[in-house]
Amino acid sequence: MTQYNLTINGKSLQVDVDPDTPLLWVLRDHLNLVGTKFGCGIAQCGACTVHIDGDAVRSCSYPVSVIEDKKVVTIEGLSENGDHPVQKAWLEHDVPQCGYCQSGQIMTAASLLAENPHPTDEEISYAMNGNICRCGTYTRIKAAVKTASKSI
Ligand code: FES
Ligand code: FES
Repeated sequence: MTQYNLTINGKSLQVDVDPDTPLLWVLRDHLNLVGTKFGCGIAQCGACTVHIDGDAVRSCSYPVSVIEDKKVVTIEGLSENGDHPVQKAWLEHDVPQCGYCQSGQIMTAASLLAENPHPTDEEISYAMNGNICRCGTYTRIKAAVKTASKSI
C-alpha cells in the first residue's frame, strides 16, 4: 500500500492503496464518490468517464499512481448545484432512461464543449462515440449537447 495525495473536485484527499488500483475503484470504494459508474472495466463503455486536467478519461483504466499531481473532476464536482450547461441541457431534453451511463456521457460532453464550444454534428458524434448507452438515448444526447453548446 502507498499513500497518495489526490486533488479531486477541488479538495485535497488522501488514500492508502496499491499503486495499480484504478482511479474508478479509488473514487467509488475509498472516497464514496459513486456517481462515476463501473460498466466494463476495460475502457470500452465510457461509464467511468471523469476529467483529469480537463480531459475526459476512463477511470477504470487509469492507475492511481499516475494522477497524484493532476486535478480530477467527477460528476459530483462538475458544478456547484447541478447547473453546468450540459446538466441543464440534459434536464431540458430529459435525456436519461435507466441513467447508468449518463454521468459518463455528461463528463464526455462537458470536456468536448470545454475544448470546442460549438461542435458540428459530426464532431459531437465523433466525441460521444465511445460512450455506450444500452438504453439507446443517443438521439437525445446529441440534441442536448447541441443545446448546451448554445449557452457556452
Ligand atoms: S467501466 Fe471504464 S470504460 Fe467501461
Ligand atoms: S440511459 Fe440506460 S444505459 Fe444509458
